Amino acid sequence: MDKPEVLVAGASGYLGRFVVSEFARRGYTVRALVRNPEKLASEGPNLEPSVASLIEATVKGDAKDTASFKDACRDVDIVFSCMGLTKPQDNLTSEQVDHLGNRALLEDALTHGVKKFIYISVFNAEKMMNVDVVKAHELFVKDLQASGISYAVIRPTGFFSDMGMFLSMARSGHMFMLGDGENHVNPIHGADLAKVCVDAAESNEKEISVGGPDIYTFNETLNMAFEAVGKSPWITHIPMWIGDAALFVTGIFNRSLAGVLAFAVSVSGLDNVAPAAGTRHLKDFYRDLAAKAEKTGQQ
Ligand SMILES: NC(=O)c1ccc[n+]([C@@H]2O[C@H](COP(=O)([O-])OP(=O)(O)OC[C@H]3O[C@@H](n4cnc5c(N)ncnc54)[C@H](OP(=O)(O)O)[C@@H]3O)[C@@H](O)[C@H]2O)c1
Repeated sequence: MDKPEVLVAGASGYLGRFVVSEFARRGYTVRALVRNPEKLASEGPNLEPSVASLIEATVKGDAKDTASFKDACRDVDIVFSCMGLTKPQDNLTSEQVDHLGNRALLEDALTHGVKKFIYISVFNAEKMMNVDVVKAHELFVKDLQASGISYAVIRPTGFFSDMGMFLSMARSGHMFMLGDGENHVNPIHGADLAKVCVDAAESNEKEISVGGPDIYTFNETLNMAFEAVGKSPWITHIPMWIGDAALFVTGIFNRSLAGVLAFAVSVSGLDNVAPAAGTRHLKDFYRDLAAKAEKTGQQ
C-alpha cells in the first residue's frame, strides 16, 4: 500500500525542514506549502537541511492572502503545520498567520477530507495567554479541537535554532539576559522534535508536550555559547520590569516586533521543562554552528 501523502505547511522553516526530512525518511510522499519555494533548495541558518529533493510537489501560499491556500490539501491524507510568525513581518500579526492562516488551511483540509491535522503550539501556553503569539496558537488549537478532524497538538519548549542567536551575541563578547537567568529549560533539536511530530502522525495521542534531553538554566545556555566561540562569559542581567517597559514602548511604534519580543520576555521569566525526548545536545549544536560560521566567515 502507498504511504500516505502529507502536506507540510511551514516547510521552509527550522522545524519544517526536519519534519519534511523525517516524513520522507519514513516513506511518506511530501508536499510543501511555502511562501518562498526557492528557500527549500539551500541549507537554513541553523544547520537545518536543504529539502528540495525530498519534496514531491510544492504549493505556494501566504497567510496574508488565505485564498492562496485553496486546494493545497486536495488528495492529501495528513496536514502538518508549523507555519507561524516567529519574526516581525510588515504589518502581519500572529492572529493573521498563526490563527487565521492555520484556520484557512484547516478549512481546506476539511473540504478535501484530510484524515489528520498535526499542529505545533507552545509549551506552557496556559501561563502565557497574555502574549499575542501564544494566544493566536491556542485560538487555532480551539478551532482544531472543535472541527471534528482527528488531530494532534504538539507543545515544544525552545528550539535549538532560538539559541543559535546567542552565538553571534557571544562572539561580540557580551550578552544581556532578562531576569537572573536561573529559570530552567530543556531546548530541543529540530531533528529530535521532528521524530516526535511524525510519531504523532502514527499514534492516537492528541496532546504532546516535549523538550530535549538536557535541562539547563538560561545562564548555562549563554555560558555554553561563550565557550563555543572561545570567549569568557560576560552577561549583564536586566530586571524583568525593564523588559516589560521596553515592550510597552516598542508596542507603540512596532506592534509586530513587540509581539515577537513579548514571547521572549515571557519565556525567560518561566521554567520551561517538558517531558524529555531526543538525543542531541545543545553544546554540540553550538560547536557545529560556530564551526560553520568560522568556515564561511559569518558573524
Ligand atoms: N522556535 C521556538 O523555539 C519555538 C518553540 C515552540 C513553538 N514554536 C512554534 O513552532 C513553529 C515553527 O517554529 P520555527 O522556529 O521552525 O519557525 P520558522 O523557522 O520561522 O518557520 C516558520 C515557517 O512559517 C512560514 N511562514 C511565516 N509566515 C508565513 C506566512 N505569512 N505565510 C505562509 N508561511 C509563513 C515560514 O516561511 P518563510 O520561510 O518564508 O519565512 C516558515 O516556513 C512556530 O509556530 C513557532 O511559534 C517555536
